[in-house]
Amino acid sequence: MQRVEREIERLIKEINYDEVTRLFGMLFGGKRLRAKLILKIADSNEKAPLLAAIVELIHGASLLHDDVIDEATLRRGVASVNATDGSKTAVMLGDILYSKAFTELISFEKEIARIIASSVTALSKGEMMDVKMADEFNSDEEKYLDMLYLKTATLIEASAEAAAILAGKDSSSHALYGKNLGLSFQIIDDILDIISDEATLGKPAMNDFVEGKCTLPYIYLYKVLNDDDKQKLLSLHAKALSEQEALWIKEKMHEHKTVEKSFELARKLSGEAMNAVSEDVELVNILQTMIKRSY
Ligand code: FPP
Ligand code: MG
Repeated sequence: MQRVEREIERLIKEINYDEVTRLFGMLFGGKRLRAKLILKIADSNEKAPLLAAIVELIHGASLLHDDVIDEATLRRGVASVNATDGSKTAVMLGDILYSKAFTELISFEKEIARIIASSVTALSKGEMMDVKMADEFNSDEEKYLDMLYLKTATLIEASAEAAAILAGKDSSSHALYGKNLGLSFQIIDDILDIISDEATLGKPAMNDFVEGKCTLPYIYLYKVLNDDDKQKLLSLHAKALSEQEALWIKEKMHEHKTVEKSFELARKLSGEAMNAVSEDVELVNILQTMIKRSY
């Protein structure tokens, strides 16, 4: 991973603008899940750290824009760039990072560049759907999972597929691994938003629902509530929750085991991801660590 961090540093230096270096230095790196995946799959290839750096710049750019869109003041436990330096700066920094990433992509074979570039269109579509779906309470599980696939899983799927091509490995099984890992990862993230506290999350707890996002535990809850409680849940959608209201939601989720039900789906998808690459112990380990994260 040090090789990836060095590549990222080199690319940022090449942008040759102190303000970008300063702002980038304020971003906390995060888990670097996509980079780790690329290194695990294509470790023997000398261009793997560059591909990993490219994907992390794209991911970083998407989060900068996402925080502007979500009006989020915290990212990974620290103030977001839009909070410290304003939304205009956050958007422009995002533009610089992802255009730099795209410039670097041209040194890879066409198929790799196409896979990464088209996944960015998909994730942008997913973000747009996410924002649109937050206008109203969404109780459609399939619609939610379609959006999740685009918004979160496509870049992970593309990372795994492109790394496999780079390493001369089977690209479709690695793509399937990345897709299911990405979906499972996001479902667990959605669960953590509900069961963790602000200190652990690095952002306010139950923030998804406050932002209007009806994640799986809310979708499952809506389906099983009686009419009065359905109305109550709808009335709380996309609003700042009092402690009592948050507690009511959590108690109902506990009563109807909707977090467990969501976790079951995450576990099922992880299982499918493992089956796709069952002979690769390290890739299987990544999934097991991810599943444990939710405890
Ligand atoms: C986080 O979702 C957001 C994403 C994973 C994708 C955002 C994509 C864009 C803004 C498209 C633009 C892309 C580029 C490359 C500029 P979330 O809000 O559910 O998660 P969070 O809790 O981490 O904010
Ligand atoms: Mg967000």
